[in-house]
Amino acid sequence: MTAAEPKPESVSPNPAKSMDAIMALCKRRGFIYQASEIYGGINGFWDYGPLGAQLKKNLRDAWWQDMIMNPCWGRSGPGGQRVRCVPVETCIIQHPKVWEASGHVGGFNDPMVDDKETKQRFRADHLVGLFVVPAENQYIDKAKRPGIRKAALSGQLAPVRSFIASNESEAHLALQELKKRDLGGLDVRAAHVQIDGSESWHAFDMDSARGQMHGLLVQIPMRILEQTHTTIPSPFTGKAGSLTPPRQFNLMFKTYVGATATESDIAYMRPETAQGVFVQFKNVVDTTRVKIPFGIGNTGRSFRNEVTPRNFTFRSREFEQAELEFFCHPSESVEWYQFWRDFRMEWWKSIGLAGDNLILREHEKDELSHYSQGTSDVEYRFPFTAPGFGELEGIAHRGCFDLTQHQTHSKQKMEYFDASRGELAPNGQPKGEWYMPHCIEPAAGLDRGALALICEAYTKDESRASPEFLKLHPRLAPIKAAVFPLVNKDGMPEIAEKLHAELTAKFWRQGSIEMDEKQSIGKRYARMDEAGCPFCFTVDGDTVKDQTVTLRDRDTGAQQRMALDKVASFLSEKLGA
Ligand code: GAP
Repeated sequence: MTAAEPKPESVSPNPAKSMDAIMALCKRRGFIYQASEIYGGINGFWDYGPLGAQLKKNLRDAWWQDMIMNPCWGRSGPGGQRVRCVPVETCIIQHPKVWEASGHVGGFNDPMVDDKETKQRFRADHLVGLFVVPAENQYIDKAKRPGIRKAALSGQLAPVRSFIASNESEAHLALQELKKRDLGGLDVRAAHVQIDGSESWHAFDMDSARGQMHGLLVQIPMRILEQTHTTIPSPFTGKAGSLTPPRQFNLMFKTYVGATATESDIAYMRPETAQGVFVQFKNVVDTTRVKIPFGIGNTGRSFRNEVTPRNFTFRSREFEQAELEFFCHPSESVEWYQFWRDFRMEWWKSIGLAGDNLILREHEKDELSHYSQGTSDVEYRFPFTAPGFGELEGIAHRGCFDLTQHQTHSKQKMEYFDASRGELAPNGQPKGEWYMPHCIEPAAGLDRGALALICEAYTKDESRASPEFLKLHPRLAPIKAAVFPLVNKDGMPEIAEKLHAELTAKFWRQGSIEMDEKQSIGKRYARMDEAGCPFCFTVDGDTVKDQTVTLRDRDTGAQQRMALDKVASFLSEKLGA
């Protein structure tokens, strides 16, 4: 479809999944709560309730198992090499020089703009403007459409409206909003949005039927914003003159270490777990028997003072990361990068994110840092990014940038001596080679991961007793199974309790086994469906006679009889335990 063709009105390809409904379920069933809710909440911070805490633990454990303990499910890496990984657990607060060396003190900034009238704040790079080009403009010819972009970029065209949109779907919403507003007689019937290459332009035609006006919804370039902020309309009031010029804002949270709290005591809460690995690289090499190629994994909380936290837990100020820094010889780094990129995509699929909602986006060459030979993002189509995607994980070829930076700043040698390489000595053995290892970094976010799992699992089916339920993958589900005595008499509660105790003893490491004897069996199934519990076992009158129970499957609702003594092995197989 070209930019000139009209596009259907739909904003989201999956309107059935309402974020409001998903957030309500998360609250109702104890997955996610607003932090400090009884005090009105605190923007950008979220707590996990009982089910959410276990879901996130299961995600962390799955990452730990498949990345550290049994990396890549035992498969070999490039050239048949073994994939070996070890964990570390490093501090949230590090020496401030770590963040100078990593570039975070100098460069971890977002541009920020304030509306002086409403006191609201937003990221300058999220501001998009509606630029209007009159029909007589020389750029009106479709063939010259790129010229319109250029004109807008160079500031020749002032935006007539501005909106905040950080991605394609928000631009869609901005357009819908635009249609409701008074645009001084401009007709936006034929509005069309299209992502144009890596610049993420949002272009549309107005009144294309009559060909009188053409417009563009584009990101307002920083330089233009700096020069013309007094003429750009505020996205909150529509009036010009109240926006401040963009200012760089460092995303790191500052704190003080020690009692005096002077400038020299300033320290930072880590914005990523990765640097903890780089600064301990030498210790891991010197104190363990790892040999390159190998990886070091680190999980834990990271902190970023995001200018505009939004979209539930997607962009939070405190969040959890699971990062692997995989070190290899420079000559093998591209192959390892491809290996990890493909495995990480496969991994997210294996835990329930298969299908069209998951993509691997390889960055264009001109998007890469000077030291990188490749970066890809695993992206998920969240209800709030649809039809676009949001990043779950970045897989980056980081070259030798980080180790070199720490070597320069700390004056400690970070190079690695590889006894298996180098010229051959007269005795036929390699002489060895010193080199700075290259690093491949799969960096995942566990909060975004948990949110994607919930969004993907969320299912609506009005015909069921639980019209909303969660099809969570059994490996990730916080409740693994439930046991119900059909009625509270005739020996059923005793058998149910025994089964519950047996299953709890066997599966407590993976999640809980629930016992529920309250209300009708239908209501009990519905409660478990909503919590994402994959299997329910009902003890009834026949159980007493023939030692069988009813197994009921969450996704299909199908029921079958199963021998009581086969329940544990059935669950083991389904949970991969
Ligand atoms: N060491 C590289 C690094 O930190 P990143 O892309 O900035 O890379 C990795 O972060 C992952 O951490 C992201 O893909 C995302 O899942 C998660 N993440 C980053 N910022 C986040 C935020 N403000 N809220 C929630 N998750 C975030």
